[in-house]
Amino acid sequence: MTHQAAIALGQTLRVLAAAPDDPAAQVTPDVVIGAHTDADALRRVAQGAAALTFDHEHVPAELLRELVAAGVNVAPPPQALLHAQDKLVMRRRLRDLGAPIPRFAEATDPSDVDAFAAEVGGRIVVKTARGGYDGRGVTLATDVAEARDVTARYLADGVAVLLEERVDMRRELSALVARSPFGQGAAWPVVQTVQRDGICVEVIAPAPALDPDLASAAERLGLRLAEELGVVGVLAVELFETSGGELLVNELAMRPHNSGHWTMNGALTSQFEQHLRAVLDYPLGATAPIAPVTVMANVLGAPRAPEMSMDERLHHLFARLPEAAVHLYGKAERPGRKIGHVNVIGAANGSLEDPAYVAEVRERAVRAAHWLSHGEWTDGWNEHAR
Ligand SMILES: Nc1ncnc2c1ncn2[C@@H]1O[C@H](COP(=O)(O)OP(=O)(O)OP(=O)(O)O)[C@@H](O)[C@H]1O
Ligand SMILES: [Mg+2]
Repeated sequence: MTHQAAIALGQTLRVLAAAPDDPAAQVTPDVVIGAHTDADALRRVAQGAAALTFDHEHVPAELLRELVAAGVNVAPPPQALLHAQDKLVMRRRLRDLGAPIPRFAEATDPSDVDAFAAEVGGRIVVKTARGGYDGRGVTLATDVAEARDVTARYLADGVAVLLEERVDMRRELSALVARSPFGQGAAWPVVQTVQRDGICVEVIAPAPALDPDLASAAERLGLRLAEELGVVGVLAVELFETSGGELLVNELAMRPHNSGHWTMNGALTSQFEQHLRAVLDYPLGATAPIAPVTVMANVLGAPRAPEMSMDERLHHLFARLPEAAVHLYGKAERPGRKIGHVNVIGAANGSLEDPAYVAEVRERAVRAAHWLSHGEWTDGWNEHAR
């Protein structure tokens, strides 16, 4: 998806991919096959490039610092990226910056769980400081004993552990911004993210029924964090809207993010183009939404891949929902794996204030994504009956 944006900007990409059938390698002629932990592969991919950027945050900071020392323009720079790589570093920095966050503690011994449980009233989330994604490395513990067990297991494996209070929330939001080295910032409207089993399944853009003061506070927070941390590129600030109506920062991502996939069809500038503009230090693009609401639904691999081919599923989808904008990633179908997404844009004459209008757009997006992953219509429609 970044490559699509690069083409439109007249730029070429060289991609570091773990294997020739990785999604990015499939669509890029200039590929280095290698691990993101291999210094030599990183040097080869950076050779002669105007900038080096990322679609995940797992490249070790020490290797990135070596590249910087060798003159490579790493964007975002390693000292900023660290806050998306290590949740303990992120929590401490956000606390120092006075950003709103849940109560937290590092656990260096399983007994630390008991002290923290006493402080927060027993409801604990245990997280690995590093390496988590799609809810992996996150345990919403049912009781203190479970939190202690999980902590003990991680510590035994030599993994640093973050304890957080379990936040009572109304919903999850995401503030997506971009920042360029010149210092320009741009914010898209704050969106609502819907998670199931720790995985984002749906995004509603903008977030419906969000207090305008809270929405602008979230945007300002995103821009401020991008500035304070020295981010270059897209920054996603994952937020909780608490039951009391406050914002708390969950975590940070410094790359195009799932909560920004709606921008590919629903905003004047997509997050992929914006990321490249920022990395190349171009002026940033306009972020206005083009419809009252856009809904993104992820296509997640079904428990059992349908017998119908994806080609045939697409055929039937477009016959029924010609307006669905489909983005497939060229990944094999595996249960729960993000293999694509669908964007549906609401009619121009609708209103975000109208719950029925928003619900109808959500229903179409979710129905389309479910059809693509399961080969089943959520409403029992029979594609051959008419
Ligand atoms: N302190 C908390 N209180 C309540 N729920 C939480 C808390 N922390 C995380 N969660 C839930 O777990 C989900 C995953 O947590 P988090 O975003 O930290 O993990 P991740 O695996 O790094 O995520 P991602 O898929 O965004 O990379 C959150 O979206 C939220 O639904
Ligand atoms: Mg997250």
